Amino acid sequence: MNILHVDSSALGGHSVSRELSHAVMATLTRNHPAALVTYRDLAANPLPHWAPAADASDPAVRTGSEALDEFLAADIVVIGAPMYNFSIPSTLKAWIDRIAVAGRTFRYGASGPEGLAGGKRVVIVSSRGGIYSEGAMQALDFQEAYLRKLFGFLGVTDIEVVRAEGVNFSPESKQRAIASAHATIDAGERIAA
Ligand SMILES: Cc1cc2nc3c(=O)[nH]c(=O)nc-3n(C[C@H](O)[C@H](O)[C@H](O)COP(=O)(O)O)c2cc1C
Repeated sequence: MNILHVDSSALGGHSVSRELSHAVMATLTRNHPAALVTYRDLAANPLPHWAPAADASDPAVRTGSEALDEFLAADIVVIGAPMYNFSIPSTLKAWIDRIAVAGRTFRYGASGPEGLAGGKRVVIVSSRGGIYSEGAMQALDFQEAYLRKLFGFLGVTDIEVVRAEGVNFSPESKQRAIASAHATIDAGERIAA
């Protein structure tokens, strides 16, 4: 079993999504001690933005195809994904631009698009300052909604979300959101499976 762990928060040790994605990983690796784990820190080591390859020796091409190979090889992908301006960090988008590749993870056929990366699980670890799971701000969620649609487009049907939201309302709200997400992880037989 291969597990790919991706973090994208720029907040290092203060990051909520990093704390929670590591908690998900601790649970998964406890239950799958033989799992091979690959870690990508997109804040520490951002991928170059996608651009047409200068030539085959272009280092960006090699880095991009390594990211794609890691994604394809993974049985489970755990992604720490904060909300930045209603969407995801640009570092995470740059990674997506490397893994969403026609002919590898999706293709267009006579009947439209077809995902080629099914058969894996994706765990999205979402953190956000406000509340978007209900209420007036719901329509502005281009973070979880985008990631669900993107991985769905690539053929992934097994998508879970671990969420801490309202973390910027107050220190108490932040603690409550983090505790609730940890409780989901601890109780989540599905996440541990
Ligand atoms: C650049 C930036 C943009 C942000 N944009 C939003 C936003 O649009 N909506 C929101 O609710 N919170 C926003 N936040 C707050 C973060 O989503 C929140 O602090 C979250 O915990 C970040 O995840 P992290 O702690 O893992 O870094 C933003 C934070 C940063 C740094």
